[in-house]
Amino acid sequence: MKPLSADRLLQSQGFGTRRWCQQLIAEGAFRMDGKVITDPHARIDPTAHGFSVFDEILEYRAQVYLVLHKPPGYECSRKASHHPGVLSLLPEQMSWREVQPVGRLDHDTTGLLLLSDDGAFIHRQASPRHHVPKRYRAQVHEPVDAALIALLQAGVRLQDEPAPIAALEAVATGAHELELVLDEGKYHQVKRMLAAAGKHCTALCRVAIGRLRLDALGLEPGQWRHLGADQLALLTPADQAARP
Ligand code: URA
Repeated sequence: MKPLSADRLLQSQGFGTRRWCQQLIAEGAFRMDGKVITDPHARIDPTAHGFSVFDEILEYRAQVYLVLHKPPGYECSRKASHHPGVLSLLPEQMSWREVQPVGRLDHDTTGLLLLSDDGAFIHRQASPRHHVPKRYRAQVHEPVDAALIALLQAGVRLQDEPAPIAALEAVATGAHELELVLDEGKYHQVKRMLAAAGKHCTALCRVAIGRLRLDALGLEPGQWRHLGADQLALLTPADQAARP
């Protein structure tokens, strides 16, 4: 990789403005291979050297790909208005890097939420053409019966949609609980599909995106982690992967 100046390196990793990064470096907060570097213009190949800021050892990441176990009560919009934003659950560096959620979950929906600062990745994942199936677990007020499952599989009419919308899969998982797999991400889609079937959704959790499963990640609500290459490979389109 082309060497970067120390101040640009810290800026790229979300430590604030270039000026602020220069100040951090001048104050001795930055170390490369254990040695304090106070020259903000020192040239560094971040993939070849270990570096730390305030004694925290950092791994250089050109882009970040994160997964959050979204708790209820958080908004996915960048300028959250009624509830705290999901970005407040991440370190401040992620906001400086302009990390954004991939798509939206409602403020009361929980479960898997991807975030990244890679615009092409966000676009690809959010694009309807990418067709990554998403699995939701919904609690419903009314009993879940075979007629409801059959209706969701056959398709329900949603307002402003020209054709009925069907779940790729619908299965009862409890007396008042079902799982739905969708390959689209229309506004409030699960709640609207259930409402169109005459049911009221009382809680909703996204339990898988592609083959990436929430229960395999070991994340408590509010916890997040970086996604490795193996996990990113699980986010492949439906025609290249088995259903979650
Ligand atoms: N469908 C919904 O109704 N809400 C979500 O948050 C996600 C899918």
